[in-house]
Amino acid sequence: MDRIRITGGAPLQGTIPISGAKNAALPLMIAAMLTGDTVELRNVPRLADVGLLLRILGNHGVDHTVTGKRPGQTAETGQTIRLDASSVIDTCAPYELVSRMRASFWVIAPLVARFGEACVSMPGGCAIGTRPVDLLLMALERLGVTIGIDGGNVLAKAPKGLRGAEITFPKVTVSGTHVALMAATLAEGQTVIDNAAREPEVVDLADCLNKMGARVTGAGTSRIVIEGVSRLHGTTHTVMPDRIETGTYAMAVAMTGGDVLLEGGRPEYLQSAIDVLRQVGVEIDPTNEGLRVRRDGARLRAVDITTDPFPGFPTDLQAQFMALMTRAQGTSRIRETIFENRFMHVQELARFGAQIRLDGDAAMVDGVEMLKGAPVMATDLRASVSLVIAGLAATGDTEIHRVYHLDRGFEALEAKLSRCGASIERLRAA
Ligand code: UD1
Repeated sequence: MDRIRITGGAPLQGTIPISGAKNAALPLMIAAMLTGDTVELRNVPRLADVGLLLRILGNHGVDHTVTGKRPGQTAETGQTIRLDASSVIDTCAPYELVSRMRASFWVIAPLVARFGEACVSMPGGCAIGTRPVDLLLMALERLGVTIGIDGGNVLAKAPKGLRGAEITFPKVTVSGTHVALMAATLAEGQTVIDNAAREPEVVDLADCLNKMGARVTGAGTSRIVIEGVSRLHGTTHTVMPDRIETGTYAMAVAMTGGDVLLEGGRPEYLQSAIDVLRQVGVEIDPTNEGLRVRRDGARLRAVDITTDPFPGFPTDLQAQFMALMTRAQGTSRIRETIFENRFMHVQELARFGAQIRLDGDAAMVDGVEMLKGAPVMATDLRASVSLVIAGLAATGDTEIHRVYHLDRGFEALEAKLSRCGASIERLRAA
């Protein structure tokens, strides 16, 4: 298996282009199954998860073409993918595929809305907790779908089509909101989603659905209203920039010091993290090209955070922020409220000499002056990039194992960082 080797200590200087958002690209690709026309998605990041979802969609009978690079485009220029779901041959998504990527469970929504049936394997647990799908199924049931469970599969049936309904989520869920939104576009009548997730990726999905002929209003607020239509058509849509990638590199610069332009990064997607980073002592300025992040040599200040649904501090930046706080002056309390088991990185950060105590849903981080490079193990996607951030600022060498976690969500990570002066390389498995 590949490893990543980092020799820490160099400040980051230069420009990092921000890729299209993985968490927007995945639901957009799935939404292409709502129509028999072609949906063209631009700025899709080159990531393992995107490749896997193409395979899963292909298994249902969705054809795709990926446009090759044009002159002047770099390795990080997002790809254009055309999806054609005109001849879906299979409404079943098997365990071997769904178990490899939880978000693929969301295919249940377009399949049952367009074809009246779906059979999708239950996704099972993952490294950050149990991650149930009860709220997704509740939303579909409200829309008139009959749900059964058989042999580990969810059988969804709505032979007469879906009907609009009031759906109130008892807790904010991005996956639940995506599924309810996609399914409701083809339901008969009006659907109201209350306590909807307000994440920018939900807005990106709603924008694309509206271009496909859906009638969605209120995305980005906690009340989304959908007037169902009988069919959707094809469109072209550009995937939004990745706010988690933007926040991750902002924290990397905060950690090493330096001056980097995060090209294409959008401040409005990241306000809570920007506010926190400013308290920590980082300069962040929105420019016409993106976000400029700077820090001089002064020690970082410890700041407490609590993860929350958007617009709160994102859980997907919690591990990266913890890495940053390992070197701050003072003690930082980091509380995780979204996922139950999202502290797998604590033990690995400790290998750098970080001082972290766990206390229920919180981690207390006592900042130390220096981290020391170490061999460490990536455990999940966001946790693994927190180890990169620690390694960039540690003295000596760090070797990160199981980097396939990183490849799921960070496009051209080594290239982007090394162009800014980091000493980082991939050691390919023989
Ligand atoms: C998405 C993101 C993930 C991010 C998370 C929270 C994608 C591909 N993934 O995950 O990167 O960390 O949002 O911002 O976009 N829950 C239930 N029942 C359900 C569904 C969810 O109890 O049926 C719970 C979850 O266990 C969790 C909370 O609700 O505690 C939020 O989950 P959710 O917002 O749905 O996260 P995902 O969409 O899976």
